[in-house]
Amino acid sequence: MTPVDATQWGFAHEGRTLTSENQFDVLVVGSGASGLNLALEMAAFARVAVITKSELHESNTYYAQGGIAAVLDEHDTVESHIADTLNAGAGLCEEDVVRFIVEHGREAIEKLAGYGVEFTTRTDSAGNPEYHLTREGGHSHRRVVHAADATGQAIETTLEERVREADNITVFEHHNAVDLWCERDVHGRSKRVTGLHALNTQSGEVRAFSAPFVVLATGGVSKVYLYTSNPDICTGDGIAMAWRAGCRIANMEFTQFHPTCLYHPQAKSFLVSEAVRGEGGLLKRPDGTRFMYEFDERGELAPRDIVARAIDYEMKRLGADCMYLDISHKGKDFIKKHFPTIYANTKRYGFDMTQEPLPVVPAAHYTCGGVMVDQRGRTDVKGLYAIGEVTYTGLHGANRMASNSLLECLVYSTAAAHDIKDRLQRVKVKEETLPPETPPWDESKVTGADEQVVIAHNWDELRRFMWDYVGIVRTDKRLARAQTRIEMLQDEIVEYYGNKKVNGDLLELRNLAVCAELIIRSAQARKESRGLHSTLDYPQTDDSKPPRPTVLTPKRYRPSDD
Ligand code: FAD
Ligand code: SIN
Repeated sequence: MTPVDATQWGFAHEGRTLTSENQFDVLVVGSGASGLNLALEMAAFARVAVITKSELHESNTYYAQGGIAAVLDEHDTVESHIADTLNAGAGLCEEDVVRFIVEHGREAIEKLAGYGVEFTTRTDSAGNPEYHLTREGGHSHRRVVHAADATGQAIETTLEERVREADNITVFEHHNAVDLWCERDVHGRSKRVTGLHALNTQSGEVRAFSAPFVVLATGGVSKVYLYTSNPDICTGDGIAMAWRAGCRIANMEFTQFHPTCLYHPQAKSFLVSEAVRGEGGLLKRPDGTRFMYEFDERGELAPRDIVARAIDYEMKRLGADCMYLDISHKGKDFIKKHFPTIYANTKRYGFDMTQEPLPVVPAAHYTCGGVMVDQRGRTDVKGLYAIGEVTYTGLHGANRMASNSLLECLVYSTAAAHDIKDRLQRVKVKEETLPPETPPWDESKVTGADEQVVIAHNWDELRRFMWDYVGIVRTDKRLARAQTRIEMLQDEIVEYYGNKKVNGDLLELRNLAVCAELIIRSAQARKESRGLHSTLDYPQTDDSKPPRPTVLTPKRYRPSDD
């Protein structure tokens, strides 16, 4: 990558001396596909900090298997990808957003390939290489570009390499963002973001960062459930921070449960990609009979909400611990070539998928709702952007279609980067003053942390009642129980946070509790079953009026004057 002189562009450098080493043009919180892609887009124009709470690669992105949906096959069309997405989204997608994202699919893939991501190819009829496209639920064509069954790893490690060699990006690993810092109006509502505080989880120090632009790329909140395909970092921090800062949050009732995670006590919900079903894998009961056609005419390739509910239904009906996914009929060579990671990982747990079916169960996988943003990634707070799984853009509606998430990450991070770049240039012309620096963290009123068992207990309790009461199938009574429990937990956590020194577990618990409450409130507000939100008290989809997203508005919300 050619080094670029960011001092020609950056707001923080515009004829001014930086007053602090923690002052930047753009703070990016999170280092998955969306955060790293935005940082790379910005590096030529600005001084960028990437703040991330674990190692740089650790993210949902790193574990993505199936791939990225994009229209590349000559028989496929943008209209078909749009139609499939709208269909999976069960009436709640915003069509202009779907079109915007789908139309940028090819460009997103080309950009990744340009960075050096090696996608799986095959030879076409004329002997030329072309991308091998796999198929997943809800897609009516083969349109999923992939790097065998470890697409996320290929993307994340390539972007990481580019970021580490970029001159204008400073990486802060093991820095857990605590809260955004905003200028406020006389009513205490956020006027604009000016920075954030982040806990260095290795030293225990809380550091103040300042910038006129902050981008949340912190991923989803599937860790709020006891069983999840997600790594430990997915605790909804960005959603909770944005809510506390005054941003509206939408569609939190739509948690996607992936139908097929490996059922094994040590596997911690290892995902068995939907591409296994896309390439011919069959779902079976413990007695070997198939069942998906009893639920949907698309069988194993029905959208995820339908497949997850069917598995859940069969498990409950039969009192079975799991169902089975069988692709052994495709033969050893095919399986090892297409699914080397899944083959190797399941083998470690004692299964040979070339010879036998794999035991599978559903687990929380993806957060369809999140921070409301416009098509440039702008949130309700001036200067604050959000991109990737942390957001609600309108793409997924009531159910995300497989492999549309990475696509959304890439398209929105590029769009947000362009918008920030424009604003940086305008700021330069207008000669505005630098925003005030974020003040140091105040620990004068807190004492040392209490026994960690309190935090550990609350973590467990929260994740268990969310699984039991706010899971794949809900009822009013279960939601009311969850509501009572979250209120009690929130009181305890707020009191604890106000009086004790912060640590990583406490920060995550505080954010999980905020997100749990948003999920419960959104689920209670939706008096119908639609997509991923299924309730026994309102089993039908309400078609009597146009469907609307569930929008929650915080106390600090201030209509944007942007
Ligand atoms: P992430 O990749 O989740 O990154 C979030 C980042 O934010 C992390 O670096 C994290 O450490 C950091 N962070 C969080 N909180 C803080 C904080 N307080 N302070 C500092 N840093 C913080 N989607 C597809 O489209 N195709 C697939 O094939 C696919 N397969 C998947 C397989 C698995 C097992 C999983 C779990 C998901 C899969 N998904 C897939 C979904 C997709 O991977 C994610 O939606 C996407 O990667 C999200 O990217 P992101 O950049 O928004 O966030
Ligand atoms: C998978 O490979 O099944 C995950 C795909 C996705 O979540 O989009």
